[in-house]
Amino acid sequence: MKSENRGRKYHKDTLLAHLGRHPEAHNGAVNPPVYHASTILSANMTEWEAKRDSSKRFDVVRYGLLGTPTTFALEEAIAAIEGGYRAMLMSSGLAAITAALQACVKCGDHVLMVDSCYGPARNFCERVLTRCGVATTYYDPLIGADIARLMRPNTRVVYLESPGSLTFEVQDVAAIAAAAHEAGAKVLMDNTWASPYLFRSFEHGVDVSIHAATKYIGGHSDVILGAVITTKEMFLPVRTMAADLGHCAAPDDAYFALRGLRTLSVRLERHEKNALAVARWLQTRPEVSRVLYPALPEDPGHELWKRDFLGASGLFGVVLKPASKSAVYAMIDALDLFGIGSSWGGYESLILLTQPARGRTATSWEEAGPSLRVHIGLEDPQDLIEDLEHGFDQLHAVGSVA
Ligand SMILES: Cc1ncc(COP(=O)(O)O)c(C=O)c1O
Repeated sequence: MKSENRGRKYHKDTLLAHLGRHPEAHNGAVNPPVYHASTILSANMTEWEAKRDSSKRFDVVRYGLLGTPTTFALEEAIAAIEGGYRAMLMSSGLAAITAALQACVKCGDHVLMVDSCYGPARNFCERVLTRCGVATTYYDPLIGADIARLMRPNTRVVYLESPGSLTFEVQDVAAIAAAAHEAGAKVLMDNTWASPYLFRSFEHGVDVSIHAATKYIGGHSDVILGAVITTKEMFLPVRTMAADLGHCAAPDDAYFALRGLRTLSVRLERHEKNALAVARWLQTRPEVSRVLYPALPEDPGHELWKRDFLGASGLFGVVLKPASKSAVYAMIDALDLFGIGSSWGGYESLILLTQPARGRTATSWEEAGPSLRVHIGLEDPQDLIEDLEHGFDQLHAVGSVA
């Protein structure tokens, strides 16, 4: 894309291939080079003074901590794909969550946090925000416009994550955002599941969108990276807080994530196709009680998902019929293609035994059987199905106690 054509209206897939690339600035290289830089030298004192102009603090390359052409390239691309004003990178998804929250609250304020949030986000509220005099109330992910009843005069943040971690409830983002704004609060959302590509959060009222770029943006299980995308109004408050806290991203991680971004849409398409095939098969299995995947028509969140999302990623939950721990362990241990490990969003399939009931306070998790979180990768889904079939054989061999 020529620099004079950057204002043109291209479709998202075209933007994924072209944004953040400035070959003219890098001897024609297709990809921006990796800047390993702390000190950035100025040619003379006039240039030094110009770079230190505080109104340009986040626009120029003046110190590695504040950004380099590598990080600016990824920020430019991510923000445009989601339809936000600007983005900033952090060292992890969790750092993106905590910096965004810290930017929006002060002592005496109140946060409304979704009960199905990523566990460490809850830990941050309980262990850090409480020490700063910020109170948190957890709310039912399905609350919708009724969130208005929970708003207090000092509520500054309504935090969403949709679908929810481990349990995959789909939130009515627009209804919650409208109530939050009516009461003067900002809307923060962990949008990692959908990535900037499948949920354009700003069109639904979100002020600050948070991503663990570690997942689908990186896409290859070799990066730890966070990103925050904001509206114009929220950019400076959040960016300044991130700088004040000393957050930044590693250059190689930013580069890998930008490379991952180029194939985000094709990978997501395949993740969804494979995940649907495996999820549908799981629904037919006698060992399975429920599959928690909004892309399935039977899922309670399906209608909202269809209304708001542009597709589904490859992460979903499976509730098994009651089975002993040793039987479930035997099932998981028997799998050949599903890795046992934290994180998700890479090209490979993963499985974890989860405990959705743990930590919940506003809602309860009543399912009797064990819960699994499955990430469906880019393998052939038939192989994944056969692997899971073998796992179920082992579950029976050790013995279920249904
Ligand atoms: C929904 C969600 N948000 C944020 C994070 C945190 O990302 P990171 O591991 O990069 O800190 C995770 C990690 O698993 C996650 O699942």
